[in-house]
Parts: sequence; C-alpha cells; structure tokens
Amino acid sequence: MNVLGIETSCDDTAAAVITDGTIIKSNIVASQSDMHKKYGGIIPEIASREHFTSLIPVVNEALEQASLTYKNIDAIAVTNGPGLAGSLLIGVNSAKGLSMSWDKPLIGINHLEGHIYSAWLEDLEPDHQAGFPLVCLIASGGHTDLVVMKDHLDYKLIGKTRDDAAGEAFDKAARVLGLGFPGGPEIQKMSEEALETVAALPRPAIKDSLDFSFSGLKTALVRKAEAEGFYPVIDNNGPSRQQTTEYSFAFQEAIVDCLVRNTVKAVSENNAKGVILGGGVAANSRLRQKMNDAMDVPVFVPRPGLCTDNGAMIGAAAFFNLQNGLPFELDMDAIPNLRMGIT
Ligand SMILES: Nc1ncnc2c1ncn2[C@@H]1O[C@H](COP(=O)(O)OP(=O)(O)OP(=O)(O)O)[C@@H](O)[C@H]1O
Ligand SMILES: [Mg+2]
Repeated sequence: MNVLGIETSCDDTAAAVITDGTIIKSNIVASQSDMHKKYGGIIPEIASREHFTSLIPVVNEALEQASLTYKNIDAIAVTNGPGLAGSLLIGVNSAKGLSMSWDKPLIGINHLEGHIYSAWLEDLEPDHQAGFPLVCLIASGGHTDLVVMKDHLDYKLIGKTRDDAAGEAFDKAARVLGLGFPGGPEIQKMSEEALETVAALPRPAIKDSLDFSFSGLKTALVRKAEAEGFYPVIDNNGPSRQQTTEYSFAFQEAIVDCLVRNTVKAVSENNAKGVILGGGVAANSRLRQKMNDAMDVPVFVPRPGLCTDNGAMIGAAAFFNLQNGLPFELDMDAIPNLRMGIT
C-alpha cells in the first residue's frame, strides 16, 4: 500500500510516499527555519503562508522522487493536530482537495502518533525486534510526553511536561547563550566543544510523578548568566566562546538527565520491552547515547532527519491506522490541541 503523508503542523512543509508503513519511497521537507531565524522563533502567520505556497510543489516532488503518479497512491494521510491552527488548516484543506480530485481515501493523523511511528521506518520495527509494551518518549518543540504503547494504536499518556517542552527549553536557553534558532542543534554543537564544565545546573523532578518541568532549569541558567554578567546583553557584554560552550554543556546534561531518569522509571514501572524516542529533541546525540547507556532494553531511535517533522512518519502511522478500512474523512477538522493516549 502506497500512502502519501502530508505534514504542515508547524514550520516544515513536508510530503512523503511510504509503502506498507515502513519503506520510504520519497521524503521531501521544505524547512522554513531560515525564514523564522531572524525573529528568533516561529511566526505563525508566516508559517501558514509559506505552507500555502510550498505544499503542492512539495507533494509533486514527493511523487516524482518516488517515480509514481497520483494513480499509484492508495491513500492520503495528513496531520490534523496538534499544531499551529493556520499551519494545520493548509495541510488539512489541501489534502481534502487532493482526496476529492484524485478520488483517494483520506485519513487524519495525530502528529505525536507520527513521531512514534518514525520508529517503524527503515527496518527499525520495534514490535518485531522487541515486542510490546513499549515506552515512547516524544520530546519536541511543543511536547515532552511519555506514552506506554501496549499494542499498535493503543496509547496511554503516563508523563508530560508541566510547563516548557524540552525543545522549547533548548530554544530559550540558546537565546540566553547568544545562539541561533532552532536552539537544540546549536547547543549540541557548542557542547561538543566544551573543554571544562561549569557547576551543574539543577535537574528538576516532580515527586511521585513521571511528569517533567523545565522552566526552573531555564531560570537557573538565566540567574547564572546574570551573575556572570553576560545576560541581558547590553553593549556587547555577551558570553565568551568558553562561557557559551560550558553553559551549553551544563544545560544539555541537565535536560538529558531529566529525560533519561523519567524514561528509565517508566520502563521499569510498565515492564516495557523497549523504548522509542521521537520528536526533534530525539535527534540530540547526547540524549541518544545516555538513553542507550541507561537502558537494559533496546532503544529505537530514528535517524535525526526522521526525528524532526516529516511526512514519512505520517505515512507510516497512517498505514497502521488503515488496516481496518479506507475512510474518506472529508469532514475532518484541524485540531490545534489534539491529544493522544488520554482515557
Ligand atoms: N540535536 C538536537 N538537540 C536538541 N534539540 C533539538 C535537536 N534538533 C532539534 N531539536 C529541537 O527540536 C525541536 C523541533 O522538533 P520538532 O520539529 O519535532 O518540533 P515541533 O514540530 O516544533 O513540535 P511538536 O512536534 O511538539 O509539534 C526544536 O525545539 C529544536 O530545538
Ligand atoms: Mg514535531
């Protein structure tokens, strides 16, 4: 089965053709990050306008790269939440238009479910290699969720952030350290250069809970930066290269340790047979390494390009959702606050 996966929930315009939920025939991502860089964050209005102009060319490129025409597509899948309302609407309405004009089934997919199903792409297939239950950590710009997956499409949310998401914390810390947007990759790069470490930053924990909290960690970084006199920046008093690298390292270690600590606990409490990492923060090499070191069950992590937003993960998740039939969800809504695994 060939599924065209469309993803426009945030600032990446993406489309992919996925065969049988695991084989990537094509995967095109038009990133808008250069456009948003100068504002230090995503401007929703700009994001939706960019999706509007890029989406159909991106879909055409995905078909071309797969050497297919629309006639070979068996179903269209589109992210219908969570995400930015204007961005989601462009994807959902374009997918409806394609479904009607091509006469192809249409299904809406939860973006977070997509991040989980990235782990089924390119032969990782955790169900075959480890089996259920699996613990999934989705750490991204908007979410930090721990989910138990008892079977395909069977999710229970067991932990979430109470304030900032892990990716959001990286992005905010990068601003304090004078780094660009998105902050996660910049902080990772700087950390690799750190020769010495400054005193450790706190690792916030919530008693008797698998929830996360990152806003206090960000405040701790701001207080240190103020004490050292490199923040707020007035008259070129910004951090030295050494301060940037050392604080990047300290900040990354603190976030990674919180993510690993709660995931280890989730695995043991749920007798999980494996762990899936997904979302943009799962691209972080230190997180991948420390999670692997801490686990005695297999850890499944898509390659970095499949951790950040893409259409391939939407096509993969759709395949498993389409096993029970081929719907035409033409009355589908874009749902900005769509959740997953809450009973
Ligand atoms: N190597 C990395 N290390 C740490 N963080 C990273 C890395 N690469 C990307 N990120 C972070 O991942 C986030 C983007 O991830 P993703 O594209 O999945 O998020 P999103 O789609 O904006 O949010 P969501 O998936 O919650 O809707 C950004 O906050 C970015 O800083
Ligand atoms: Mg995402």
